[in-house]
Amino acid sequence: MRVHIVSPSADRTRNWQQALTHAVRIYEVTTSSGGLASAEIGLRATPPDVLVLQPTHEADIDLLQSLAQDHPNMDCVLLGTQPDPAQLMGLMRAGVREVLPEVPDGVQLSMAVERLARRRGGSLRHTKRGKVLCFMSCKGGSGATFLAANLAVALAEQSNARVALIDLNLQFGDALLFISSQTGPSNVAEVALNSERLDKDLLRSSLLEVSPGLFALAAPNDPASGTDVLPEQVQTLLQVARSDFDYVVVDIGRTLNGVALQALDMADQVYAVLQLTLPFIRDGKRLQELFRSLDYPPSKIHWVLNRFEKGGQLTLSDLRQSLKTPELITIPNHYGVVADSVNQGVPVSKVAPRSPVTKALADMADSIRNPDVTEATTSGIKGLLSKVFDKRGIKVA
Ligand SMILES: Nc1ncnc2c1ncn2[C@@H]1O[C@H](COP(=O)(O)OP(=O)(O)OP(=O)(O)O)[C@@H](O)[C@H]1O
Ligand SMILES: [Mg+2]
Repeated sequence: MRVHIVSPSADRTRNWQQALTHAVRIYEVTTSSGGLASAEIGLRATPPDVLVLQPTHEADIDLLQSLAQDHPNMDCVLLGTQPDPAQLMGLMRAGVREVLPEVPDGVQLSMAVERLARRRGGSLRHTKRGKVLCFMSCKGGSGATFLAANLAVALAEQSNARVALIDLNLQFGDALLFISSQTGPSNVAEVALNSERLDKDLLRSSLLEVSPGLFALAAPNDPASGTDVLPEQVQTLLQVARSDFDYVVVDIGRTLNGVALQALDMADQVYAVLQLTLPFIRDGKRLQELFRSLDYPPSKIHWVLNRFEKGGQLTLSDLRQSLKTPELITIPNHYGVVADSVNQGVPVSKVAPRSPVTKALADMADSIRNPDVTEATTSGIKGLLSKVFDKRGIKVA
C-alpha cells in the first residue's frame, strides 16, 4: 500500500516514515515537506492509497478537495487540525477518513493508517520481524555493555529464541569479550562494507555462535575502520538481522552520531543505563530531552538503574521524580560476581547462576518476552532532585 506524507516538518516526517516502515503492514512510504501545492504534480501523477496531510494553509484543504474529485479512491488522514462539524462533511467527501487534532507521534499515526489499511485490505508482512533492543550509556562506565551482552544471554537461555548481539560501539566496542573468549569470523565494519549484498546467509556467516541460539557480531578491532560505517549500512544490517532473529540486542555505547541515531530510530525499545549519582542523572535528563526532540514515544524508552544499592544519599523515588517516570529497571550492585564474569569473559549466569544480578537480568528478559504495558503516572510531588535540577535550570544545549 502506498502512503504519502505531506507536512511542513522534515523531522516529524522522517519519524512518521520510520514508524510506518516498522508497522505490521507493508507500506511504501513517500514524503514531501512543505505545502500540499508543492506535492500536487507528483500526487496527481501517482496518487497514493493514503495521503497523510498536515495542512499549512486553508488552500491545502481546497486543493485536497480538488485532488479527491480526481482520485476518489485516495483516503486521507488529516493531522493537527480540528475542523468544526460543518467542515467535517466536506472533508469526508474529500476522502478524509481520520482526523487527528493533535500532531501525532509515530505510534499514533501508524495506528490511524493501520485502521485505513485494514479496511483496504493492505497486505501484512510475512517476513519475521524480531525486536531491536538498543542499549546506551547515559555516561561512560554505566554498565550498558555488561547489561546488553548478559541480557542477550538471558533471552537466549530462557526460550528457543534466536538472539543476535550487535556491537555498534564502533571505536571501542568490547561487548563480545563480556561473554566469550572467542573471536568472531567478521565484525560490524566488514559487514557494513558488504551491506549491498547483505542477506541472511551472509549475516549468519559473519556471526560467532556464542551458545545455542545466541550469535554475536563484534565491533571492529581497529577504531579507524569504525569511522567508515554509514547509517544506511547500519539500517540494512539491522533490517536483515531482525528478519532472521527474534531479538537483536544492540550496544550503541555513548556516542551520538548518525549510526547511533539510525539504530535508535529503528529500535523497538531503548534501554538507557545510568547509576544513582548526580552526574549520571544529569546526563540521563539530557538524553531524555534528546529522545523527546526525536519524538520517541515514552513507551519506547526504559531507564535502567545499574549497580543499585539501598541506603545511598539519593533514592529510587528521587530518580523517578527527576526523570518523571514511574518505571525503573533496577540491577543490583554486585562487584565481585560481575568482575569475575567480566574478567573471565563468561556470562554472569554461568559464573553465578544465583546471584541477584543474574536474577535481575532474567527478570528483565522475562518482561521483554512478556511485555506488560505500565501506564505512566508522573503527576505530583516534586522531589529533592527535581528541585535541584529546576533550580540549576539544567537543560540540554
Ligand atoms: N551490576 C553491576 N555490579 C557491579 N559491577 C558492575 C555492574 N555492572 C557493571 N559493572 C562493572 O562496571 C564496569 C563497566 O561496565 P561496562 O563496560 O558495561 O560499562 P559501559 O557503560 O558499557 O562503559 P563504556 O561507556 O566505556 O562503554 C564493568 O567492567 C563491571 O566491572
Ligand atoms: Mg560499553
